[in-house]
Amino acid sequence: MKRVVVTGAGGGIGAALARRFAADGAKVVVSDINPDAAGKTAAEINGIAVAADAASEEDVRNLVERAHAELGGIDLFCSNAGVLSAGDENTPDQQWERDFGVNVMSHVYVTRALLPKWLDSGEPKRLLITVSAAGLLTLLGSATYSVTKHAALAYAEWLRATYAHRGLIVQALCPQGVRTDMLTGGNARGSGSAALLSEGALEPSEVAELVAASVRENQFLILPHPEVAEYYRLRAADPDRWLGGMNKMQRGFEARK
Ligand SMILES: NC(=O)c1ccc[n+]([C@@H]2O[C@H](COP(=O)([O-])OP(=O)(O)OC[C@H]3O[C@@H](n4cnc5c(N)ncnc54)[C@H](O)[C@@H]3O)[C@@H](O)[C@H]2O)c1
Repeated sequence: MKRVVVTGAGGGIGAALARRFAADGAKVVVSDINPDAAGKTAAEINGIAVAADAASEEDVRNLVERAHAELGGIDLFCSNAGVLSAGDENTPDQQWERDFGVNVMSHVYVTRALLPKWLDSGEPKRLLITVSAAGLLTLLGSATYSVTKHAALAYAEWLRATYAHRGLIVQALCPQGVRTDMLTGGNARGSGSAALLSEGALEPSEVAELVAASVRENQFLILPHPEVAEYYRLRAADPDRWLGGMNKMQRGFEARK
């Protein structure tokens, strides 16, 4: 992978992905809504920093054009930026819209800008979408995260089913806990699941290592926590039992409050 773009690369998993691909010799466009954070990661790896809000179609279009011009093409786009807010059905509409924008529409905007350049180009092109295990299962304590990550996974599946024969390889990265600001910050604590997820949390560099190996393969799901595959099977095979187990966990959180 020689020409790579990573969004949300000012910190956490995105920064680890940018570092990992740069270590393999890639030229990386490091994008983040926070220009200072993007600049810091880019400086470490001799990359190119581009400030962009992943939830803004205009910013994403500019990012893709700029990356294309600077790199002479894009082989791998890591649509990684995401946000987590704790809450339930009463989360204000504005927050639902913001979370939907960053966690779902960002991927739509990326593909609107990229696919005209990528499809039928004669070379395989890779889109890595950072979803979450919450997209396969659920995240107690955050309705917006659970719903938007399911939508992100659905979009990734739809893309793969629709364009696989036209040279597009879509992969969905679905980790459980990863030790980043997202997991340690107030929103994850508010979601009630943070303590549980922290127990088996991985370092961002471990996730990036697995991604680097997985982009050489074509499997759709990248699961840094292999047990997620089993939970996903259980959910599909016996949804009532699986939901009963999740509710038991919720009652456990409530009892500890
Ligand atoms: N940390 C975890 O436990 C975990 C688990 C599963 C999935 N994920 C997913 O991994 C991805 C990265 O999360 P992380 O843990 O590294 O988070 P993080 O909060 O540590 O870092 C996210 C980065 O994205 C940037 N960002 C936020 N909103 C943005 C926007 N609108 N446009 C561009 N950049 C934006 C932030 O400035 C930050 O640098 C997210 O999609 C997240 O949902 C994280």
